[in-house]
Amino acid sequence: MKECCSSGPNPSKIKKVEPGKVAEILESFEHRVDSLIMILQDIQEEYRYLPEEALRIVADDLDLPLSQLYEVATFYRSFSLKPRGMHEIKVCLGTACHLRNGPLILESFERELSVERGSTTSDLAFTLETVNCVGACALAPVVIVDSEYYGNSRPSNVKGILKKYKK
Ligand code: FES
Repeated sequence: MKECCSSGPNPSKIKKVEPGKVAEILESFEHRVDSLIMILQDIQEEYRYLPEEALRIVADDLDLPLSQLYEVATFYRSFSLKPRGMHEIKVCLGTACHLRNGPLILESFERELSVERGSTTSDLAFTLETVNCVGACALAPVVIVDSEYYGNSRPSNVKGILKKYKK
């Protein structure tokens, strides 16, 4: 039986912040405070989350309080303050998907990945999340990996879906 659950990403797998890279991003937006969201988007794209070290560099450079950056980072759902996996799995638990075994599919992903929903595997390969209705109820139950939709999913499909994304 697999051990549940991972205690989070392995620190050695997390990309280190290079101040020069953050400076390059700031430079590309001409150090403009009104470009803050785009600067954060680029940092998120580079590291797949917003590392505190990078936020401190941005706050110093733009002469903004760090707390203001955290406010922005927590306001928008697209930003994450925790390292994210290379692939993002979203299991729909909206009504239609819930009624068609969505929770069993989620359990199957949790078991296979040894993480709970809302968590990232220790190798930073996957982040597992749930969503509420993605507008594809006719295909329920739905799983989305990155931008690919898997309709009419079954717990028995989970291993096969993961295999496509494992190295
Ligand atoms: S409830 Fe899952 S797509 Fe609508």
